[in-house]
Amino acid sequence: MKHRLADLAGKSILVTGASSGIGAATALALGQAGARVALAARREDALAALAGQICAAGGEALVIPTDVTVEADLERAVARTLAQFGRLDGAFNNAGVLGKVAPLHTLSTADFSAVMQANVYGVFWALKYQIAAMRDSGGGSIVNTASIVAQLGFADFAAYTASKHAVLGLTRSAATENFAHGIRVNAVSPGPVATPMAEIGFGSLDNLHASLKLTPAGRPGTPEEIAQPVLFLLSSASSYINGQGLVVDGGFSVV
Ligand SMILES: NC(=O)c1ccc[n+]([C@@H]2O[C@H](COP(=O)([O-])OP(=O)(O)OC[C@H]3O[C@@H](n4cnc5c(N)ncnc54)[C@H](OP(=O)(O)O)[C@@H]3O)[C@@H](O)[C@H]2O)c1
Repeated sequence: MKHRLADLAGKSILVTGASSGIGAATALALGQAGARVALAARREDALAALAGQICAAGGEALVIPTDVTVEADLERAVARTLAQFGRLDGAFNNAGVLGKVAPLHTLSTADFSAVMQANVYGVFWALKYQIAAMRDSGGGSIVNTASIVAQLGFADFAAYTASKHAVLGLTRSAATENFAHGIRVNAVSPGPVATPMAEIGFGSLDNLHASLKLTPAGRPGTPEEIAQPVLFLLSSASSYINGQGLVVDGGFSVV
């Protein structure tokens, strides 16, 4: 039987938050799978370095400096991907921020808005332009990065937690509207993953490892352990999966 992850070869896929952590690992894995990858984030130098790695592995990459809090940047990111690669087959809307780590009653409106702007509006605008492009070209697969906090409460992370609940809401709504147009929309919900964001959230990487000792996995996930499930959701191997939030957390949320 044909290994359907192989279907990613030659596909045009846009990744936001590609300059670091989960997004960088996923973009590299996509490049290694033969996809043509459009890399979006604010840090152009980090994107250029990753593009070099993807090209060295035999892949194709396009660097698109993008701020996901700016609607026009996301519209342009989709337009540049179409101009360079001719179509858009997939997208990984992964850029996100943690925001201020503090109890809800101490958050300012500006603190709350900053998280919503990146994590909710950023995903809304990405979906809006990606879905329009995919409807024109006959379909595709989109994966949004939610989190296990999309279904849990989490002290000191109220804005972040609310934003990830919203990512699941956008995912499910977009999924119901677009399957008939050949477009699937899913989310990946990672547990704690060793990235710069988790380092900030837990105070340090040592704290991150220590606080996970009593969880089923006993350690954080690696960015690569999120990347592979995302490739599955982007590929035709998941052709009947739509509107789901795939939890990838080593069992963190089931105890
Ligand atoms: N690490 C975890 O434990 C964990 C768990 C669950 C979910 N997640 C989610 O996973 C995603 C990736 O996070 P990570 O852990 O890989 O963290 P990370 O290493 O800090 O990466 C965050 C990425 O988001 C990008 N980003 C942030 N604000 C942006 C903006 N305004 N415009 C464009 N790009 C922006 C950053 O790029 P620039 O700074 O270059 O713009 C960077 O590439 C996030 O959505 C996060 O909420 C992480």
